[in-house]
Amino acid sequence: MNDKDFRVLVLHGPNLNLTGFREPDVYGKKPLEEIDEDLKIEADELGIEIRILQSNSEGILIDTIQEHRRWADGIIINPGGLTHYSISLRDALASVRLPVIEVHLSNVHAREEFRRNSVIAPITVGQIVGFGGHGYILGLRALLNLKKEVV
Ligand code: DQA
Repeated sequence: MNDKDFRVLVLHGPNLNLTGFREPDVYGKKPLEEIDEDLKIEADELGIEIRILQSNSEGILIDTIQEHRRWADGIIINPGGLTHYSISLRDALASVRLPVIEVHLSNVHAREEFRRNSVIAPITVGQIVGFGGHGYILGLRALLNLKKEVV
């Protein structure tokens, strides 16, 4: 198996562009740019091609998922607040029939009641929560591991 054939789309949803600045006690002090840099280094080391996009717009996230349905072998997504109510985002992710990993910087299960429910989670392989930016790296490794299991 050549891991370089593996392509992953990474999506950050609304307000994640303010990571590092907003509620640092909850989401950490590391800016999103640095989280993305760490992820690119990890992807390089693992031989994975990644594309990363942050958007505050649900429509742009959905368009990007649809546009990458043939390009990507897997998706890592932190849907931000959309996690808790966006059926359209869930439907888009389900439509493309790719393995999806849901990442949250904070441990959403240890916070307000409304954050415990994810409408996205049932169509994902799994959730990674509470590890800050490192969660995306864990997600990348989990997707690669899944591929190895099926090859
Ligand atoms: C978040 C958790 C969500 O509940 C929240 O709306 C966010 C960030 C996280 O990464 O912990 O915007 O997805």
